[in-house]
Amino acid sequence: MRAGPRLVLALSLTLLAAGTAAGDAIQEFLARHWRRPIPVQGSPPPRFTPVEASLQPEACGTCHPAQLADWRTSLHAAAMGPGVWGQLVEMLEGDPESALGCLGCHAPLAEQAPLVATGPRVAPNPAFDGALQKRGLACAGCHVRGHARFGPPRRDGTLESPASRETLPHNGVTRTPAFLASEFCQGCHQFTPDGFALAGKLLENTYAEWRESRFAREGVQCQGCHMADRRHLWRGIHDADMVRSGLTITARAGAPRYRPGDTVTVTLRVESTGVGHAFPTYVTPRVVMRAELVDAQGKAVPGSRREKVIGREVALDLSREIADTRLLPGQSAVLEYRRRVAEAGVRARLAVVVYPDAFYTRFFEALLREGAGRGAAEIREALAASRRSPFTVFVREIPLT
Ligand code: HEC
Ligand code: HEC
Ligand code: HEC
Ligand code: HEC
Ligand code: HEC
Repeated sequence: MRAGPRLVLALSLTLLAAGTAAGDAIQEFLARHWRRPIPVQGSPPPRFTPVEASLQPEACGTCHPAQLADWRTSLHAAAMGPGVWGQLVEMLEGDPESALGCLGCHAPLAEQAPLVATGPRVAPNPAFDGALQKRGLACAGCHVRGHARFGPPRRDGTLESPASRETLPHNGVTRTPAFLASEFCQGCHQFTPDGFALAGKLLENTYAEWRESRFAREGVQCQGCHMADRRHLWRGIHDADMVRSGLTITARAGAPRYRPGDTVTVTLRVESTGVGHAFPTYVTPRVVMRAELVDAQGKAVPGSRREKVIGREVALDLSREIADTRLLPGQSAVLEYRRRVAEAGVRARLAVVVYPDAFYTRFFEALLREGAGRGAAEIREALAASRRSPFTVFVREIPLT
């Protein structure tokens, strides 16, 4: 019966925090699995072929092509991109402890780090594999420990394979419901309580925001939205369709028709209906609600633009919070637009524009001004990418006269 294993699984997830045996087992697994730094994988079992022994995503992709094709397009694959690497080249020499801290989330395998912490000092890492360094959060970072594979239960909820493990590629897999829980993502998307905070709020608080939301109460995990159908896409604030899926946006005029000389009222409303945490969750994006008048030729009426920002704006040096207008699940932002219309044929244009990397644009500009050293070319590349990333999720023109 299908309900059996699914029910057990749902229970073990909802009771995760309650200290049940199943919940404790998941927590214990995750504490071991996400031990930082991840221990070196060591020598592969002698019977492994080179493709089973390789930690490269393409090796996994020879037998798991669907996951490889998805992952390649994801930001996890790009987690050691130019914006990160451009800072790390200098940091690995000047401040190696901090650099190793960055790698913990951006390239977490021991084999990806050129250096290793040895008590108070750092030393060259004998396990370092230069070919893995820039692969970001690769398959093995989430799925391989000591060359053994770990993964979610089968889709029918079962844990065992029909064949004995020694007969399967990479000696089979250890399946655990821990892969289905938000706690699997927590280590990299949530600072610990003693982590960096501004105005009493942690800089990364996604898991806690989710935990407080109706989605947690209803059992919808991070994977439910970001890995729907087990896809390895992890779309977020950089993807227009993903952002749209989380919002209900409406635009309406106060009256069906106005006459020249009247004051018009137009309302643009953004409601967070399907985002499982604050919208947006980080301090880096900026979402702009925009209203303006356009004339009969479709040209914007000068001086008519009004904007309202949704986001958490912080000072570039992270010394203070400037504003926090993010939407918690269920909350709305409303832009009320009022203006006299001078001529016939005027329309109101309402738009919602997302700047996913707004903070990074300012940050990379400042870094280049101060001198990014040997990372300069990469930071310039990251700056250009951050300027290209804005997109419009909603635009509507409403005739007013
Ligand atoms: C030579 C082919 C082959 C290679 C290479 C390979 N796998 Fe697998 N993998 C399999 C097969 C076959 C299964 C199903 C085993 C079973 O039924 O228990 C599997 C199962 C899995 C599972 C469990 C999910 C499922 O489909 O049941 C995960 C997770 C996994 N592999 C990850 C990886 C990762 C990560 C790599 C690369 C580091 C990798 N595999 C490399 C063949 C391969
Ligand atoms: C706790 C995990 C964590 C640590 C540690 C961490 N990051 Fe990140 N980083 C993230 C996450 C999650 C994002 C994506 C969300 C965002 O844009 O803020 C990100 C995004 C970024 C980005 C923008 C995306 C890109 O690829 O250009 C840069 C640059 C970056 N981090 C640099 C660093 C540097 C440098 C360090 C070390 C000083 C560091 N990070 C430490 C989790 C982490
Ligand atoms: C950020 C961590 C992460 C990375 C990176 C990652 N996976 Fe996964 N993978 C997961 C999680 C979590 C699940 C379970 C998702 C679910 O059930 O919703 C999963 C599920 C799977 C499954 C089972 C799919 C199924 O249909 O049952 C396979 C196979 C797999 N991953 C292979 C890979 C391969 C190959 C790569 C690299 C190309 C990779 N994964 C990268 C976290 C990751
Ligand atoms: C080992 C650390 C790590 C783990 C575990 C991890 N992530 Fe990430 N994640 C990152 C980093 C780092 C980035 C930013 C990559 C970049 O842009 O440089 C990121 C980016 C993302 C993004 C894209 C954000 C955007 O700006 O659009 C989403 C969505 C996401 N992660 C969801 C998840 C989910 C869901 C899980 C659990 C299944 C998970 N992550 C597990 C480190 C991690
Ligand atoms: C109910 C669906 C849903 C759930 C549950 C959910 N998310 Fe999201 N998430 C979204 C949507 C929609 C977006 C795009 C809008 C946005 O950026 O807030 C998003 C965006 C993101 C981003 C992009 C960065 C940003 O500033 O917004 C990250 C990272 C992320 N989610 C991680 C997570 C993690 C980790 C969890 C679990 C603790 C999680 N999400 C749970 C729907 C969900």
